[in-house]
Amino acid sequence: MATIKRIGVLTSGGDAPGMNAAIRAVTRTAIYHQLEVIGIRHGYQGLIQGNFKVLKAFSVSDIIQKGGTMLKTARCEAFTTPEGRKIAYDNLVRQGIDGVVVIGGDGTFTGARIFNEEYNIPFVGIPGTIDNDIFGTDYTIGYDTCLNTVIEAVDKIRDTASAHNRLFFVEVMGAEAGFIALHSGIATGAEAILIPEIKDQAKILKQTLETGFKRRKSSSIIIVAEGDDEGGAFKIAEKVKEDFKDYSTRVTVLGHIQRGGSPSAQDRVVASRLGHAAVEALLDNQKSVMVGLQNDEVVLVPFRKAVKLHKDVNRSLLEIADILSI
Ligand code: F6P
Repeated sequence: MATIKRIGVLTSGGDAPGMNAAIRAVTRTAIYHQLEVIGIRHGYQGLIQGNFKVLKAFSVSDIIQKGGTMLKTARCEAFTTPEGRKIAYDNLVRQGIDGVVVIGGDGTFTGARIFNEEYNIPFVGIPGTIDNDIFGTDYTIGYDTCLNTVIEAVDKIRDTASAHNRLFFVEVMGAEAGFIALHSGIATGAEAILIPEIKDQAKILKQTLETGFKRRKSSSIIIVAEGDDEGGAFKIAEKVKEDFKDYSTRVTVLGHIQRGGSPSAQDRVVASRLGHAAVEALLDNQKSVMVGLQNDEVVLVPFRKAVKLHKDVNRSLLEIADILSI
């Protein structure tokens, strides 16, 4: 069994609030175990370009409360090629790095899984994405903060929607998954929630709105995940306008504000636990696994499963949302 003496840590893909808290936890847990820590800047791109920096305990001071990532992040095409991964491997060997913690989502873990099939430097993953769409973990770092950002914004939209008796379409992130839309929709009392997991929701939406108008609702809010099959909030708003010509409609796309901000208490705690667990996993000679949380317990999930298997939303929440918004 290889002895781990020096580890690397990187963040990759879309940033998420709480990534800094995870970097801090990885760094300090490693130093506690007398390991050296190398920060790899700009994700896999930095790994290929040799963008390394030594991290000490003080290097990660004053970051637990900050959004973004102090190590920067990137989406890297070169790491998807065997040539790119070979350069990355050579750089890791040159740096004397014998284990790497990668913080990110699906794409990050896919790269790590392939790398670990080819090379024997172990990679361990920490799920960090606002989308919460990684199989094998109940939470991903950043999701809770994102939900709170969305809720704050939608509450404000509700004030103006109600003042003008308007119908608002609010588009939230989630290119492939509806977790953000579904949970923020429930939390804001949205009249309807459109998510990528459920197709052809437009027809039902019209019925829902008709019922609301009959009941003289002073406002209606439809939360639309950006990956919904209708093509996003603007498109669905256009469709609905044809049927409700007299009704005043507006569209708000929340965009990248959902990715920023100081991490919530939950994200800081989850990031701290998973950062600690990732280093422990490397010390236990684990390889090609993600650390996740299931029923509040830390679990190890093979990258193979985390990236291949689909994590479904809790569809019964849609029914609850319908009932509660009559
Ligand atoms: O981080 C995941 C995500 O927020 C998706 O929901 C969204 O589609 C995507 O990132 C957008 O990211 P970017 O603007 O960085 O390409």
